[in-house]
Amino acid sequence: MEIKTDRLLIRPLGPEYLKTYNEYAMSPENARYMCFLPVEGEAESVAFLKTAEEEWAKPHPKFYEFAIIHDGEHIGGISIHMEYGKPVLGWIINRKYWGRGFAYESAKAVMEHFASDLGIRYFCAYCDTRNTASFRLMEKLGMKRAGESGGRKNRASPEEAFEYKYEIDLDHDVK
Ligand SMILES: CC(C)(COP(=O)(O)OP(=O)(O)OC[C@H]1O[C@@H](n2cnc3c(N)ncnc32)[C@H](O)[C@@H]1OP(=O)(O)O)[C@@H](O)C(=O)NCCC(=O)NCCS
Repeated sequence: MEIKTDRLLIRPLGPEYLKTYNEYAMSPENARYMCFLPVEGEAESVAFLKTAEEEWAKPHPKFYEFAIIHDGEHIGGISIHMEYGKPVLGWIINRKYWGRGFAYESAKAVMEHFASDLGIRYFCAYCDTRNTASFRLMEKLGMKRAGESGGRKNRASPEEAFEYKYEIDLDHDVK
């Protein structure tokens, strides 16, 4: 599956992106508010990228991990994980490239692609309540805040945190 936008190529993430994946996945600053990052060592990245590649090869993947490519550079990742049959969006952009609209452009294109090709009309996403960049991105995508709950565990920190859930139903929410 490859998705093209004005500036980006969005394609399956796999082992060939190890070096550039590590740039953001190993960075505590880049992954401060994430549940599964930062990774603790290269072996973990290698295993994850292999799993991502294997999942892409399945007829009905349970998750889709994409690499975001700009001008031939791998600048971040965007994912869709199926949670009880519902698609959950996730994203991370290498901090060198923050603030240039790349996450928005990627997420919009992925949602449109899954809507047109797979008939998916509902998407949700979660983020730490302190992760302003992430929830503003959700709002820019037309997603609405659906709830707030405790018990979130970000990998970089031992404390429990709060998280927002955002969602969008393309048949009802006007963007
Ligand atoms: C969240 C993240 C992916 C946004 O990436 P980005 O490419 O910088 O975002 P965009 O440039 O596409 O911004 C889209 C919108 O998000 C909001 N936004 C982005 N960065 C923001 C910031 N630092 N503060 C407030 N709002 C911000 C803005 O509304 C922006 O739209 P605008 O520029 O028209 O105002 C990026 O900050 C990141 O990688 N964070 C670390 C990983 C992470 O926390 N992922 C989410 C886990 S739940």
